[in-house]
Amino acid sequence: MEKEQAVVAIQNVSFTYPGREYPVLDAMNFSLGKGKVGLIGPNGSGKTTFFHIIMGLLTPGEGKVLFKGSIVQGEKGFQDLRKSVGLLFQDADDQLFSPTVLEDVAFGPLNLGASPEEARKTAQETLKNLGLRDLEMRVTHRLSGGEKKLVSLATILSMQPELLLLDEPTNNLDQETRLRLIDILNGLDLSYAIISHDWDFLEKTTREVYVIEKGRITQCEKASLHEHHHAHVYGDHPHHHGD
Ligand SMILES: Nc1ncnc2c1ncn2[C@@H]1O[C@H](COP(=O)(O)OP(=O)(O)O)[C@@H](O)[C@H]1O
Ligand SMILES: [Mg+2]
Repeated sequence: MEKEQAVVAIQNVSFTYPGREYPVLDAMNFSLGKGKVGLIGPNGSGKTTFFHIIMGLLTPGEGKVLFKGSIVQGEKGFQDLRKSVGLLFQDADDQLFSPTVLEDVAFGPLNLGASPEEARKTAQETLKNLGLRDLEMRVTHRLSGGEKKLVSLATILSMQPELLLLDEPTNNLDQETRLRLIDILNGLDLSYAIISHDWDFLEKTTREVYVIEKGRITQCEKASLHEHHHAHVYGDHPHHHGD
């Protein structure tokens, strides 16, 4: 990926959790720009850690995070980055905190400086675009798992990000919501990176897939994306099928 296209990049990032002997990420380099990419890797390989470092939720022991070509400095720098990059947390309960759905979806725009009236309109528009208008006045913590996931996505989209990071978005989703999410993502004119073990989902929603393993990230050949119409065992590695 061309450097000037990158929205975010990490350079030589190493990260070791306190009390752990080995780094989760080891001098990792990667950039995310325009496009729709998938990230796959065994459990515990550092995928979530990678997203949290980009968002400034974890600070790497070594290396830099770049936002539009500049090194991100301090919390203020990450606040700017978070206006353009939205993270869909692995667990929707980490994302949602307002009493009602509408308040949760309006929170981002409000936080970005919109008036309460504007924020409400943006939130309503976002929910409408996702087919979630009916949920507007619902109590957030009483939503089903699938509804929570879609509302979480709405809370990010209402901030009109340039790049979305989605951490295992199909975990615990029923088949109907999973298909709905595929449709939503395909309808978005937006760049995103998706962490997932769900090959079929990645095949339907992304154009290229990378593997995170042993602290490093490598591209998985495009060819491996076709002919994947079956589910792979959880945590399996990408592989080629015979011609
Ligand atoms: N707060 C923490 N303290 C210590 N180890 C952690 C912590 N969070 C995650 N880890 C460990 O770091 C490794 C990478 O975690 P994570 O990035 O969540 O992996 P993935 O998302 O690929 O499953 C795992 O071995 C995990 O157990
Ligand atoms: Mg994870």
